[in-house]
Amino acid sequence: MRTTVGIIGAGPAGLLLARLLHNAGIDSVVLESRDRAYVEQRQRAGILEQGTVDVLRAAGAGGRMDREGLRHDGIELRFARERHRVDFPALTGGSSVMVYAQTEVCKDLVALQLKEGGPLLFEAEALAVEGVETERPRVRFRHKRNEGNEGSEGSEGNEGNEDVLECDYVVGCDGFWGVARQAIPAEHSRVFERTYPFGWLGILADVPPSHDELVYARHDRGFALLSMRSPAVSRLYLQVPEDTDAGSWADEEIWDELERRFETADGWSLERGAITSKSVTPMRSYVHEPMRHGRLFLAGDAAHIVPPTGAKGLNLAVGDVVTFARALVHLEETGSAERLDAYSETCLRRVWQAERFSYDMTTLLHRAPDATPFEDRVQLARLRRIATSRAAGTDLAEGYTGFPLD
Ligand code: APR
Ligand code: PHB
Repeated sequence: MRTTVGIIGAGPAGLLLARLLHNAGIDSVVLESRDRAYVEQRQRAGILEQGTVDVLRAAGAGGRMDREGLRHDGIELRFARERHRVDFPALTGGSSVMVYAQTEVCKDLVALQLKEGGPLLFEAEALAVEGVETERPRVRFRHKRNEGNEGSEGSEGNEGNEDVLECDYVVGCDGFWGVARQAIPAEHSRVFERTYPFGWLGILADVPPSHDELVYARHDRGFALLSMRSPAVSRLYLQVPEDTDAGSWADEEIWDELERRFETADGWSLERGAITSKSVTPMRSYVHEPMRHGRLFLAGDAAHIVPPTGAKGLNLAVGDVVTFARALVHLEETGSAERLDAYSETCLRRVWQAERFSYDMTTLLHRAPDATPFEDRVQLARLRRIATSRAAGTDLAEGYTGFPLD
């Protein structure tokens, strides 16, 4: 197999990149190790910055998002039983965000790709990226099904055929646990990392959200977040110790703890409903520099991880693949590789702003297990400052609604 751009991974990064390249008349092949259902059902944050919304629309992938997505003009911060609304348009000169789940973004992009894009192979696991310092990098992969990806005849129990995808460029969109990053020699790599001594226990519940905007709560017992997937489905999170087993929390215990952390002085109440899913997400900040080596480019979670507090993961992935696609189009149109050569530097400027913002939001709202009374007071003072100073509120609102693409 041969293609111009070999894309490893069909998360938001890989799927959108395939779409952008298709629109520009550049061919690509997407290799995804899991099946279609997995890609379409994995729960992640779904807060789309204005820039992400604009990119999806311009790519022809915004139809259902515009019909079903919910525009949010603010969030609520909750601390010391008080409520404070951060008004995005008022503080930023008009910016807002869109609540549209990552699962839905992926479903829309998969459908478009299968209908009119290049090959998208599910159950095709990249084993290694080779020759990245040459003009013909290759992806070695194992493909479970021979063709079509839809039928399963004759493939039961089939360990798969090994194959090679020859490319002009390889883009590793294979997430934090993927193989692409491993093709960059250690002597050319630098990793910046921080782990946090807590995680998030996340639930999906069949109950209308108890508030029409997201609520970020700081409490002495730990952070809590109220989010949503639709007018009928709530998504809620609790800060828990890092190696918590989700199954160790009974449903009623989760609701009781959420109620305690969201409690306000004005009698706000939390509606309970049937919990349909429970899982624990670890919290990590991670950046791999550079994001490019030879003809291998890293995009999205393959290159960087943010803790979910700022809801930046998907938006950063979008920024990376837009930067790559524009740079490749520039090369084809002008013959200049200048933008492709600047890929890592261009992306990393934005990545580090998102890393900073996500770190700030995380330390603003979570309670570290070893937090001292002094740190607790400073945290409350930071929150009060955001609630009372336009400058501090604007800083949060600008970060949340997003940093512009270069
Ligand atoms: N071969 C093929 N596919 C692979 C391989 C491999 N060796 N390893 C991983 N993958 C696939 C995974 O199965 C997954 O579908 O790569 C995809 C990576 O997707 P994500 O983890 O979603 O990463 P990315 O697309 O960068 O997502 C960016 O969006 O998912 C949200 O907030 C989340 O921060 C994340 C952001
Ligand atoms: C979510 O809806 O899953 C979500 C929303 C906002 C966040 C994190 C997760 O900051």
